[in-house]
Amino acid sequence: MSAGSIVVDLKFAPESVAAALKDGFAGREVINMADPENRDRDLSGCAYAVVWKPDPSLFDRARNLKVIISGGAGVDHILASYELPDTPIVRFVDRSLTDRMSEWVVLQSLIHLRQVPVFARQQREHLWEPRDSHPEAADVTVGVMGLGVLGADAAKKLKVMGFDVIGWSRSAKRIEGIETFDATGLETFLGRTDILVGLLPLTDDTRGLFNADLFAGLRQGGALAAGRPVFLNAGRGGSQVETDIVAALENGVLGGASLDVFQTEPLSADSPLWGMENVILTPHVAAMSDTRAVFRHAERQIARFERGEPLEHVVDRNRGY
Ligand SMILES: NC(=O)c1ccc[n+]([C@@H]2O[C@H](COP(=O)([O-])OP(=O)(O)OC[C@H]3O[C@@H](n4cnc5c(N)ncnc54)[C@H](OP(=O)(O)O)[C@@H]3O)[C@@H](O)[C@H]2O)c1
Repeated sequence: MSAGSIVVDLKFAPESVAAALKDGFAGREVINMADPENRDRDLSGCAYAVVWKPDPSLFDRARNLKVIISGGAGVDHILASYELPDTPIVRFVDRSLTDRMSEWVVLQSLIHLRQVPVFARQQREHLWEPRDSHPEAADVTVGVMGLGVLGADAAKKLKVMGFDVIGWSRSAKRIEGIETFDATGLETFLGRTDILVGLLPLTDDTRGLFNADLFAGLRQGGALAAGRPVFLNAGRGGSQVETDIVAALENGVLGGASLDVFQTEPLSADSPLWGMENVILTPHVAAMSDTRAVFRHAERQIARFERGEPLEHVVDRNRGY
């Protein structure tokens, strides 16, 4: 086995992994764990692992790794569940992923601004009923929680659409045209927010954060329908308490929601969320990783590592993201 061998264990569609490997990692040995022939291969000589929800035994078997590269932007899939070697973990950052996430966030914000669920229902019922209230984007404040790679891009694109945009993150950020708050400013941030966007990683600090207490802090009486705020989440489902979301929708603390991520995925068929008016559900597809882009990103990071340059997008294991 050559020095720089790569083990790939991506629980993506196997065809997409096989197709992308045809022109990825030229000149290197690659062991694709989706290939049944590799089931019992010796992985002790692998220097790099490109993973998404890998097999539980992978890190025991590939015990000489130098770098672990996550096939997604989030790393909760490995940090929470595996005994990891003491190697750097690089997460996936790529234009295609960022653009996709911002498309989802802008789309969902516009869906709630323009009352699309109401008009879709009226269309099904053959009803011609214009609404009285037509707020503009500028009348609505979107508060983005998490101003990392994805949150910062979504915030800028929401701003281009005319929304008033504010942001919140652990450490203070400067983004032109967007007022930002650090962790200490949560109450003020929530009190100004009509559409709350969750783009946080799942960590010990963010687990269960989107709960009844937090929703109660959102602005009531804003420009959206009935003055009620809306919750969007495309970060991680573990950050939300779904029973609290359902209760807040029922008691009017929330006027709508768009959720791409859930506490348990797939979302159970008997979740009340499926049938709720003004709720849009998507099956964790807001920003899918493009397999070819994952491999290009891994190639760049491996090349940097072998040239002795610093890796990019390295996870801070203490913070958990
Ligand atoms: N649904 C999907 O399809 C999909 C696709 C890709 C990613 N995601 C999710 O999106 C998440 C964000 O991705 P990203 O690339 O933007 O990550 P990132 O660049 O690491 O940014 C994370 C942001 O969250 C903030 N944050 C983390 N913990 C916090 C806390 N306890 N309190 C306040 N702020 C906190 C960070 O604050 P600092 O800036 O101060 O560090 C940072 O601004 C990923 O972790 C993943 O879970 C979902």
